[in-house]
Amino acid sequence: MSFPAYKKGTIDCMVDVDTSHVNGKSVVITGGAKGMGKEAVRAFVKAGAYVTFGDLDKENGNEVEAELGSSVKFVPCDVTSWDDQLHLFKSALSGSPNKSIDIVVANAGISGPDPLFTVEDTEEPVKPDLRIVNIDLISVMYTMKLARHYFMKHPFGPEHDRCFIMTASIVGFVDSPGIPQYTASKWGCRGLMRCLRRTTAIDGVRANIISPWYVATSILSPAVQAYCTSKGVTFAEAGDAAAAMIKIASDPSINGRSFGIVPRDIAPKGYFDIAKDDYEDDDVLEKLQDIMLHTSHRLQVRPEDQ
Ligand SMILES: NC(=O)c1ccc[n+]([C@@H]2O[C@H](COP(=O)([O-])OP(=O)(O)OC[C@H]3O[C@@H](n4cnc5c(N)ncnc54)[C@H](O)[C@@H]3O)[C@@H](O)[C@H]2O)c1
Repeated sequence: MSFPAYKKGTIDCMVDVDTSHVNGKSVVITGGAKGMGKEAVRAFVKAGAYVTFGDLDKENGNEVEAELGSSVKFVPCDVTSWDDQLHLFKSALSGSPNKSIDIVVANAGISGPDPLFTVEDTEEPVKPDLRIVNIDLISVMYTMKLARHYFMKHPFGPEHDRCFIMTASIVGFVDSPGIPQYTASKWGCRGLMRCLRRTTAIDGVRANIISPWYVATSILSPAVQAYCTSKGVTFAEAGDAAAAMIKIASDPSINGRSFGIVPRDIAPKGYFDIAKDDYEDDDVLEKLQDIMLHTSHRLQVRPEDQ
């Protein structure tokens, strides 16, 4: 088995986006009832796609479905439940005009107080609640597994472009004190992308992440938003996150990139290619990377011999 060459090269995000490639595609989005997911649902529908989205929030999910009409289907879904996500994907497959799934966005996520660092006033430490990792990383793995399955099953040929996008975070690139689970989860999404960009490309499946800076959505409480504002933070825009997803989905040459979602005084369109996932030719990591690619035995050796 030979790996298709992964192509380095920064994407120019200033180029106008031709969304015709997305027209008629079937899209699955998790966490589409609010925030960046909701903007993504709107943007994909505007580009002519059929969108099936899942969310825990039934009230807002139903509202988004009612707002956008017959090109959208809301499926109540807790992403931590494999069965719920399976139902989401089966609904997308049966409900979409093409009976296919072409683009999947793993976007649902939470943040919040993290008990991992808490030192309790008790004799023994309390077992920590790891639900942030469960939602922000483990559930993304469910979404990825389901996406791959249905990408490979749908009735188009292997040359057909298919696209998996994860909503990671800028904390997958910068140090972020005090939020260990969230940080590990978003680095985990970035790590998953680094694996997939070399692996699923074999089957014509692209993998990319978007990495938002602070965005004023319901994931940040009013108190946290006020605190950030008091420290001079400028927020990035949820609509620009959706535009970045559309850019990725529209261009079949984009694989293995992370687009930062940032305020427009940093990037005029509100997103840019972070370009921190490649190495220079004289970098020791580039040399180790080459060896790793030639020795990736899990794909080369029969499972029973591993
Ligand atoms: N807002 C930010 O500052 C920021 C920054 C970087 C990354 N992100 C990431 O962006 C993504 C979207 O978040 P957002 O900012 O739009 O927040 P949001 O709260 O507006 O949207 C998140 C959505 O996910 C849904 N959700 C949460 N848990 C779920 C579950 N178990 N099953 C199904 N749906 C669930 C929520 O109901 C909500 O609709 C998240 O992955 C988040 O980690 C946000």
